[in-house]
Amino acid sequence: MGKKSEKTFYVTTPIYYVNDIPHIGHAYTTIIADALSRHKKLRGEEVFFLTGTDEHGQKVEKAATEKGLKPIDLANQVVGRFKDLWKALNISYDFFIRTTEPFHEKAVQDIFQKLVDKGDIYKGIYKGWYCVSTEHFLPEDVPLQEGGYKICPDCETKAIIVSEECYFFKLSAYQQSLLDFYEKNPEFVRPPSRMNEVVSFVKQGLKDLSITRTTVQWGIPVPDDPKHTIYVWFDALHNYLTGVGYNWKMPIFEKFWPATVHLIGKDILRFHAIFWPAFLMAAGFPLPETVFGHGWWLRDETKMSKSKGNVLDPHVILKTFGPDPLRYFLLREIPIGLDGNFSHEGFIHRVNSDLANDLGNLVQRTLTMIVNFFGGAIEEADKEQEEDKKIRIEFETLKEKVIAFYENYALNKALEEIWSYINTLNKYLAENEPWKLAQDESKRKRLGRILYQASAALRGISYFLFPIMPESSQKIWQFLGEKKSIEKESFSDLKFENFQLGQKTKKPDPIFPRIALQDFLKEEKAQPVSEKKEEKMEHIAFDEFKKMDFRVGEIVSAEKVEGTDKLVKLEVDIGTEKRTMVAGVADVYAPEELEGKKIIVIINLKPAIIRGIESQGMLLAAEVEGKAIIPFFEKDVPTGARVR
Ligand code: MSP
Repeated sequence: MGKKSEKTFYVTTPIYYVNDIPHIGHAYTTIIADALSRHKKLRGEEVFFLTGTDEHGQKVEKAATEKGLKPIDLANQVVGRFKDLWKALNISYDFFIRTTEPFHEKAVQDIFQKLVDKGDIYKGIYKGWYCVSTEHFLPEDVPLQEGGYKICPDCETKAIIVSEECYFFKLSAYQQSLLDFYEKNPEFVRPPSRMNEVVSFVKQGLKDLSITRTTVQWGIPVPDDPKHTIYVWFDALHNYLTGVGYNWKMPIFEKFWPATVHLIGKDILRFHAIFWPAFLMAAGFPLPETVFGHGWWLRDETKMSKSKGNVLDPHVILKTFGPDPLRYFLLREIPIGLDGNFSHEGFIHRVNSDLANDLGNLVQRTLTMIVNFFGGAIEEADKEQEEDKKIRIEFETLKEKVIAFYENYALNKALEEIWSYINTLNKYLAENEPWKLAQDESKRKRLGRILYQASAALRGISYFLFPIMPESSQKIWQFLGEKKSIEKESFSDLKFENFQLGQKTKKPDPIFPRIALQDFLKEEKAQPVSEKKEEKMEHIAFDEFKKMDFRVGEIVSAEKVEGTDKLVKLEVDIGTEKRTMVAGVADVYAPEELEGKKIIVIINLKPAIIRGIESQGMLLAAEVEGKAIIPFFEKDVPTGARVR
């Protein structure tokens, strides 16, 4: 494959797991990608922006079972939530990849087979600790806890031990090639601190990587050996090829691959900076230019994540403010590489002070004066004086700086510079007091010059802000009398003088209303809580416990649920009647083993449909290393007896 042309920009976000609904952390990466791709389009480059969902794997399988759904049904629901959020945030992606799409699955199988044929994938036995939450095998040096288990260092949840036949990828064979590659391409991992982290990890030595599972059914089957499914990360990383057409729209793929930048959170750096280039080297693809690992949004100093139960649903903010204030806040508050703490106070403060006061007032004042003093079009202006020139010259330097900052992923710096220019303009108006000049007919041309400088500068400001606040920028642009959309003017054509004397402007509507913190917090509280707190010990009252009706049930018959390896359909006699129940125990017990056994069941749980079967109760079992172990009675007990 030849080197792609210079003028293409291919940006990706991670593909998000569908085990739960999107939150501000997911929104962050996607907003960065959107801002960069809008900027590149303004620069006249051809852009491909890919996002999507990671739908296979144990985590999604488990979440679906817990909700009584098939994984694909859960995925279908959650994909809708992601797409809705991207729409509400004005995200202009070019393609949304789902890893359950047949074209993706087929390409992953083909690449897998290619690596088997080449000898880079081989069969063996894996024994080790696995974290379901982050879907990865723990490094060996993670210490054993007193209870004989390990804790995942990334998400701090309990890992499980797995021992199974699996296929390995010969990662160890790529250690030196990776180190050579990093050395020749110091910008491959950014920011530089993350590159250091990656290099020192690889230097410690790479072990071969287990890339299939036999205990996870929800995955792409290994070609010709379907009892193995392909490890979710091997599957997911290849979305960056298939999402841009590999194996199904080759001309697009050839135009855009290799990717310009994979934007990721720092939590998934090793997958992208070590495994991914090694997979690509093995399969013979050119490598991406950059993997950019951004920081995390924290709440109360801990990472916002579902497993910690502290995620923030962006919908309330979006409902109150629309997309731009959130886009602005997330990109302004922290440099892309660092962590930031999200607080409502911080958000409201920025919206009121930067957006409503600094920018909003500037737009409002300038355009209202043009309407009031010139009937909407500045017909005349005197020659530029020194102070007016300064506004034009600063505009030119700002343009250069903004381009450089956007190109360098320093979006917060670009915003800082734009705001410093906004402040200069506010000062310029305050010092020249155009509202006073308007009282004196002889100062009309002077008045015209000042309002012209402010309008020409504002036109540029709305252009510079477009990648970050597309909706509000477009509004300002139109208030200034522009007929075409911002995107029609390329960066190289943008000039101060493009605002014309005599241009017919409009009376503006307020763009950023001020909201009091108290009012916003009230609104937030009124919203239903869409996230349940997990993994925190919550106490329940004895009365609540008493409501649960546990009984001794006798398994009358048991049969496997067709098309699954784990589920079994049971007929359980609970003393007063027979109930159908679906349980995830077929990987531990054969159906014949279960028949005649007495077990503990909860009989007043709301029925759930599992694989099309109504499950009218649930048996109790201990969860041990991902498997359900049923407690049986040592002594005979009457069927239907209460258990307390
Ligand atoms: N499915 C994998 C990625 C596969 S890419 C081939 C995954 N998914 S995820 O749903 O857990 O989302 C991960 C990404 O969401 C992070 O890498 C990061 O980009 C973003 N964020 C999730 N929580 C975040 C914060 N609290 N703060 C900032 N970004 C975070 O990992």
